[in-house]
Amino acid sequence: MAESMVGLKRSCRCAEVTEANIGQEMTLMGWVQKSRNKGGIIFTDLRDRTGIIQIIFEESDCGTESFEKAERLRSEFAIAVTGMVEKRSGAANSNLKTGAIEVRAKELRILSESEVPPFPIEENSKTKEELRLKYRYLDLRRPDLQRNIMVRSRVATMVRQFLSDEGFLEIETPTLIKSTPEGARDYLVPSRVHPGSFYALPQSPQLLKQLLMCSGFDRYFQLARCYRDEDLRADRQPEFTQIDMELSFVDVDDVLDVNERLLKKIFKEICDFDVQLPIQRMTWREAMDRFGSDKPDMRFGMELKDVSETVKDCEFVVFKGALENGGSVRGINAEGQAAMPRKKIDALVEYAKGFGARGLAYLAIHEDGSYKCSFGKFMKEEELDALVKAMDGKPGDLLLFAADKDKVVFDVLGNLRLELARQLDLLKKDDFKFLWVTEFPLLEYSEEEKRYVAMHHPFTMPMDEDLPLLDTNPGAVRAKAYDIVLNGTELGGGSVRIHQSDIQSRMFDVLGFTEERANEQFGFLLDAFKYGVPPHAGLAYGLDRVVMLMVGADSIRDVIAFPKVKDASCLMMEAPAGVEGKQLEELHIAVTAEKEE
Ligand code: AMO
Ligand code: AMP
Repeated sequence: MAESMVGLKRSCRCAEVTEANIGQEMTLMGWVQKSRNKGGIIFTDLRDRTGIIQIIFEESDCGTESFEKAERLRSEFAIAVTGMVEKRSGAANSNLKTGAIEVRAKELRILSESEVPPFPIEENSKTKEELRLKYRYLDLRRPDLQRNIMVRSRVATMVRQFLSDEGFLEIETPTLIKSTPEGARDYLVPSRVHPGSFYALPQSPQLLKQLLMCSGFDRYFQLARCYRDEDLRADRQPEFTQIDMELSFVDVDDVLDVNERLLKKIFKEICDFDVQLPIQRMTWREAMDRFGSDKPDMRFGMELKDVSETVKDCEFVVFKGALENGGSVRGINAEGQAAMPRKKIDALVEYAKGFGARGLAYLAIHEDGSYKCSFGKFMKEEELDALVKAMDGKPGDLLLFAADKDKVVFDVLGNLRLELARQLDLLKKDDFKFLWVTEFPLLEYSEEEKRYVAMHHPFTMPMDEDLPLLDTNPGAVRAKAYDIVLNGTELGGGSVRIHQSDIQSRMFDVLGFTEERANEQFGFLLDAFKYGVPPHAGLAYGLDRVVMLMVGADSIRDVIAFPKVKDASCLMMEAPAGVEGKQLEELHIAVTAEKEE
């Protein structure tokens, strides 16, 4: 039975009622969190997106009809209550914003009843995520998700406000565009009108925003939906939102400056956190050497040390072999962890192997100064002493070493450092350590494709002083590219763009594009650049990631209303799904895949 709300008007939201309203009659609407019948008196917690308020039903106040309805109330019924705001008769509940008041009901209307929900609507749900995602609309009623989605809305509004105050124009770009396969895989959309042709959904508005600079809009932004068909992780979704921007007549510092002020503003207003400006900058090279990562978590130390020089003459084949193969030996010092049990160390070794290590050498320094060492028998006493000294090892410390090609060593120790920090509980979620990582390599050699690929994208400007290397030693060229990193997560990234056609051609050359193929894929951009292109640069944040870190969520799914799971499906809608043969025919598509069970 559903009653009408005709004649009723909601006075405010549940937790917006305060002690200042005591003595006023108000009408509230929301969902029943729970209702307890204590015989003659019924206590109902009424919930909406602001929180909970306690309603009291007694027959003498609300009459028999409303009281009988109140007796039927169950969790998640949607109701309207009119009543008098009073000081709480019982003890105040300090856990509730409205804990000092209650509403004595005069009238109750059941606007709609609810079946028993498949899981309780409560904070910190223990329910399996698959079930919650199937009933996402109920999951979203839970207070933690309500808060996340509301924070997300506030961030979006603030970003819009800040950027328009700074002279940025919000401009939409199309989401049916041309496939330009660099970077991730594209999502394709078949064309009905052009048989056999496909649109691509944008991986980002990159080329379009550069064209807007050519058109003279000079400062653009957009909260842009982006689509990438890549393997998902805790901080990745197949569709996500970028805070995307581009600026004309600027260099690196201009972009970083406006973004630092943007970050300061939103972290102050949402998290009451003061971002210290200027934000620390570190070159990519330094980040790799010190932290083994291009997105170092700066909340703790445990930096990598290169001990190749120290061990270069030792007889330990693992170290020697790595150095002979052009690699390095590096270590981290887990201070105070010398007593770590063998089992835990073995687990760390296994963890390291997950990142390509062939092993992990360790040396524990006992309190009496003696060593327990996995490679002690291969090294002389004084060699071990020198190694300990190079690592600043003190009694009580545990030293961990990886020896391999640099790429593997960085990956292993960079991740080991994070794992140790997790185990030692060094990662405080409300401690925000920002970092700009700059001077990324322009190119990366792809063993798979046997050619250089752009590390950021093919339109990123090389550093002026490295331009000559573009033809002679492309791998050594640094780019005018930057990432903004927060607590070990890449929040955003951008670059100064190439705006000179000669440099762009050289770039395409290095990437192995023929002129023909470059024209086929990017001709419209190259053409546009013939007509007076301003120097320009930009940056894009992952909005989802920004919000995720702000609210301390463990997963990006917790800040997206209707997210997808690991296999890129939506458990609620059951997308993707098959379509009718007729639709496929219209699109000139024949499906060859066997339907998987
Ligand atoms: P980039 O590819 O680094 O740069 O993306 C910018 C930011 O977008 C976020 N992001 C994602 N968030 C969630 N799920 C994903 N699958 C995902 N992929 C990326 C990250 C990332 O830092 N056009 C350039 C920007 C520029 O140069 O201006 C670009 O897209 O937070
Ligand atoms: P082994 O000679 O295999 O007993 O190795 C001696 C120690 O070196 C063990 O602790 C191994 O885990 C470690 N080890 C093996 N390969 C590597 C490597 N590539 N880097 C660091 N340590 C390694």
